[in-house]
Amino acid sequence: MNIVDTSQQGGIALSRIAELREREAKVFRKARPKSADAVGKGAEGYFGGVPMHWMKDWPTPFPILVDKAKGATITDVDGNTLADFCLGDTGSMFGHSPAPVAHAIRRQSSRGLTYMLPSEDALAVGLLLRERFGLPHWQIATTATDANRFTLRVARAVTGRPKILVFNGCYHGSVDETMVRLKDGKPINRPGLAGEFRDLTEATRIVEFNDLPALEAALRDRDVACVITEPVLTNCCMVLPDPGFHDGLRKLTRDTGTLLLIDETHTVSTGLGAYTSRHGLEPDLFVLGKPVAGGVPASVWGMSEDVAARYEAYNRTKEPGYSGMGTTLSANPLQFAAMRATLEEVMTEKNYAHMERLAGRLEAGLRREISKHKLPWHSVRVGARVEFICAPGPLRNGGEAEDAHASELEAAIHVALVNRGVLIAPFHNMMLISPATTTKQVDLLISAFADIAARLAA
Ligand SMILES: Cc1ncc(COP(=O)(O)O)c(C=O)c1O
Repeated sequence: MNIVDTSQQGGIALSRIAELREREAKVFRKARPKSADAVGKGAEGYFGGVPMHWMKDWPTPFPILVDKAKGATITDVDGNTLADFCLGDTGSMFGHSPAPVAHAIRRQSSRGLTYMLPSEDALAVGLLLRERFGLPHWQIATTATDANRFTLRVARAVTGRPKILVFNGCYHGSVDETMVRLKDGKPINRPGLAGEFRDLTEATRIVEFNDLPALEAALRDRDVACVITEPVLTNCCMVLPDPGFHDGLRKLTRDTGTLLLIDETHTVSTGLGAYTSRHGLEPDLFVLGKPVAGGVPASVWGMSEDVAARYEAYNRTKEPGYSGMGTTLSANPLQFAAMRATLEEVMTEKNYAHMERLAGRLEAGLRREISKHKLPWHSVRVGARVEFICAPGPLRNGGEAEDAHASELEAAIHVALVNRGVLIAPFHNMMLISPATTTKQVDLLISAFADIAARLAA
C-alpha cells in the first residue's frame, strides 16, 4: 500500500517549508513598496481578469510588476533586477527583445502590420522552416494552441478517423480534446476545466508516456487519427523518453496508419532543428510556437510530403465552405519579419552552443548541491531547458510526474530565489538559458539554490 506522508514534501517538514515561505514573503514585500502600492490600487482590474488569470498564480505574495526586460534580465518598478530563467516560459527563450528581432519589428512597423497578403519575408520563412526542421510544407498560426488545433484537424481530415491519442501529463495549449488525464488507470476530463460539459474521453485515448504495450493496444482498432506528443514531456515534471521509445512510437503509428504529431514548442531548447532533427525523428506533423518569432505571437505547423498530398486531395473532394482553420491576424507581415530575423540571426548554431554550455553548467551545479545536502531530489535537462524536481528520479511518465510535484515546497523555493535575484518559471521548477544569459547569472542561480537547499536541509 502506498502511504503518503502528509507531514512533509520533498523530504522537508511542512513546518520548515511554512517558516521559509513566511520569512521570504516578508523580504519580498519589503523590497517592493511601489509594486505593492500599484498592484493594490489595480487589484480590482487585476483580479477581475486582466491580465491573464494565471498571472495571479505565481507564488510571490503579489506579482512582480515589470518595468522592462532586456536580454536575460528583468527590472521591476521598484528597481530590483532579476536574472530571468523563466524567459516568459519559453516565449523569450532567445532573450528579451533580441536586437535582430527588435530591428525587424521597427522596420516592419512602418510598412504595415497586417494585410492578408504575403510579403517577401513569408517566402524566405517557408524555405528557412523547411531547411531547419526538415518538413517540406508549412502554415502559420498565432499561438501553439491554434497550430495544434489545426494540425489535429488535418490529421482527422486525411485519415477519416475521429480520435486522437495523448500521453498522460501532456499539455499542448488550451486544445480542448487534449485535456484528459488518467486517474487510477481510467481516462477522465482534466480536473478543473472551466465550462467543459463534454466527455472529452470519448474522442481522446490516453496512455502513459514510455508505455509501448499500452500504446499498441490503444492504436489497435485503427480509429486514432493522430498521436500528439512532445518528444520529452516538459509540462509536468520533466520526463525523458526511454531508449527506443521514439522508435517504438514511430513504428506503432506507421503500422496502424496513425499520424504522428510532434509538438516542439518547448523542446526547441534541444538545439538547432529542435529535438526532431537532433534525434532523427520522422513526424508527419510538426508544431512550434512561442519563441519562433522571438516573442511576437506566432506559431508554425509543418506537414510531410505525404500528409500535404493527402490533404490537398481531401480538399479537392470535401464540400465547399470554411475549413475551420486559420485566424485573421495569422500570417501577418509583422510575424514573418520577426520570424525571419529569429530563424536567420537568433536561432543559430552559435547561440545554441552558448545555451548548451551554460545549461550543462547549471545542471552540474544543481546536482552538486542536491547531493551535498542529501536531498531526495534530482535534476533533468533537455538542451537549454533545465529542471530540478523535489522527488527522486528519473520519472518515467506523467502519473509519476504528477506525484512528484511538491507545491508548497516549490512555492517557498521560488519566492526565496526571487529574493536572491533569480526568477524561474512558475508551476514547475523550470529554468531556461538564453543566448543572453551570462555565466555570472548561472552562478548566481546555483549559489541561491545552494543557500536555500542548505537552509531546508539544516
Ligand atoms: C508543448 C506546448 N505546446 C503548446 C503550448 C501552447 O502554447 P500557447 O500558450 O502559446 O498557445 C504550450 C504552452 O505551454 C506547450 O508547452
